[in-house]
Parts: sequence; structure tokens; C-alpha cells
Amino acid sequence: MMRVIDSVETMMNVRASMSGSVGVVMTMGALHDGHVSLIKMAQQDNQQVIVTIFVNPTQFAIGEDFDKYPRGRERDLAILRELDVDIVFTPNPEVMYPPRFQTFIDVEVVTSGLEGGSRPGHFRGVTTVVAKLFNLTLPTRAYFGQKDAQQVVVVRQMVRDLNFPLDIVVCPTAREEDGLAMSSRNVFLDLPHREAAGVIYRALRATADAYDAGERLPNHLREKVVHVLRSEPLAKVDYVAICDPKTLFGIHERSNDPILILIAAKFGKVRLLDNALIPWSLNDRYGLSSALGNQRAR
Ligand code: PAJ
Repeated sequence: MMRVIDSVETMMNVRASMSGSVGVVMTMGALHDGHVSLIKMAQQDNQQVIVTIFVNPTQFAIGEDFDKYPRGRERDLAILRELDVDIVFTPNPEVMYPPRFQTFIDVEVVTSGLEGGSRPGHFRGVTTVVAKLFNLTLPTRAYFGQKDAQQVVVVRQMVRDLNFPLDIVVCPTAREEDGLAMSSRNVFLDLPHREAAGVIYRALRATADAYDAGERLPNHLREKVVHVLRSEPLAKVDYVAICDPKTLFGIHERSNDPILILIAAKFGKVRLLDNALIPWSLNDRYGLSSALGNQRAR
């Protein structure tokens, strides 16, 4: 029987009574097959699985879509019950951020560009809530999607710097048939923008093909991405970056080391993210984990 918990005290007590390995999957709900793939991986590796559902206000800036973020508690719980998840933790914001809350975690360098540049304060909210959820659920392993590659790098940095005793496992990006990365925000795309959004995946693939054909100059690879994205008039590019997957520093010299291509683009009002490692074969089970070095983060 799946147990649904919404108080911090109960979560801590229940966790203290659990034995064996515990896998944790943190989500903001509006569950889709990307979340489901993380949960299934957690179930394969661990004796018990905790899923958290919490739309975390501190990772949304003023004017972002916190109020509009899709919420569907009953649908989410039905999906989790079907998957036979052991525990679902669904706290309210007042439970996670009681009056006089005043402690935040700031990871520095790897948060400065990309999403951190476009969304100031975003990662401060992410690392703070992830650290709280680590403390409340004490996972053996925590599962994150490569879809949010910078989030993975930032969380791993925090785990290493603060010595959280757990493993981070990175799961491949689940995609729709046309390659669009699954995302809770995809429901906001109207039909023309939904069709246009397929260009992101085409841009990533075309660049991987150019790499396979021998192109190694980061600038040329980046131009390839931009060129394909420009072919779609409904795509408004926010950034295209060619980075070292470990440090997220931009790459400017030709090299045979793995490369991470990151894209953020707007389709109407909907801002979408995607990324891929090249060579493309690296985007498999644990793809970003292997590119980041050994799996154990501490
Ligand atoms: P959310 O966007 O709900 O994503 C929860 C987890 O699912 C994240 O690890 C994310 O990378 C992963 N995910 C999302 N789309 C995916 C896809 N298409 N394929 C594979 N995995 C995917 O990310 C967050 O929530 C929040 O920032 C959170 C970590 C919960 C902290 O609030």
C-alpha cells in the first residue's frame, strides 16, 4: 500500500523506521513518462522508493510561472499508486518554509551561467529544497534527469561540497515521438508551437551527425545548432552553449572529449530546455553520469 505523507515530522519518523536501500525521486508533480522512467530506475536499484511532489516556490522568480505551474494531485497519486511506489511525500509550502525560514544553499561557479544566468536565484531555490528533501528522506540513491543537465551538475557539486552521504544517479531524457523532451510545461504549447518544438531535437541530432562526420570545432558545432533552430520561425533561442559536461565551462578548442550541447528556447510563452552529449552514444542509461566521472558523488 502506497503511503502519502504531507508532514515533515511524519516523513522523518517513517524514514527512521525504514531499513534497506531507499531510492528517492524528487518532482514538482504534473507527472509524465520522464518522471516515470526515473521512478522505474529507482525501483530497480533500491528496496524502497520515495517520490516527492512539491512545487517549490523558492526556485521560481517573481513573474515566473509558479502560480500557473500545472498541478494535478489526484492524477499524480493515481500514477504513483499504479507504479506501486512505497511513499509519496507531498508537503505544502508552509510546511517546507515555515515563518522565519532564513537558510539557503548557494552553489557558486556552476550556477553562474546558462539557466543561472537566465533565471537568477533559481538554483539557490533548487539546492535549498533538494538539501531539505535529502535530509527528510535520507536516500541511498537520488535520481535526476539528464533533461535538466545543469541541475544535475549543481546538485552533484552540492553533494560533494557538503558531503551528503548518497549517490546521484542520472537518467536519460525521455522523449516524445518527434524527439521533444518530455516536460510538465509541454501542456502549455498550442499546436503550432508544439509542432515547431520538434526543431530542438533535430538541431541536437544534426549536430551529433556533423560531429560523427568529423567536425570538432566547437564554434562550427554551435553554428550548426543555431542554423537548424533558425529554420523554425516560431523558435526564439535564449541560449545555445557548447560545454564541458563536468564544469559547464564553454569549450572553444577542438578536442575529442565528450561535449554537452545545451539549448534553451521559447516557443510562444513556453520556455523549453534540452541538451545532448556528443558523441550521441553517450546519452544512454547513466549517460551524463559517466561523462561526469565515477557515479559515487562523494
Ligand atoms: P521536475 O521538473 O518535476 O523534474 C523532476 C525530475 O524529473 C528532475 O530530475 C528532472 O530532470 C526529471 N525529468 C524531467 N523531465 C524529464 C525527461 N523528459 N526525461 C527524464 N527525466 C526528466 O526538476 C525539478 O522538478 C525540480 O527542480 C526539483 C529537482 C524537484 C526540485 O524542486
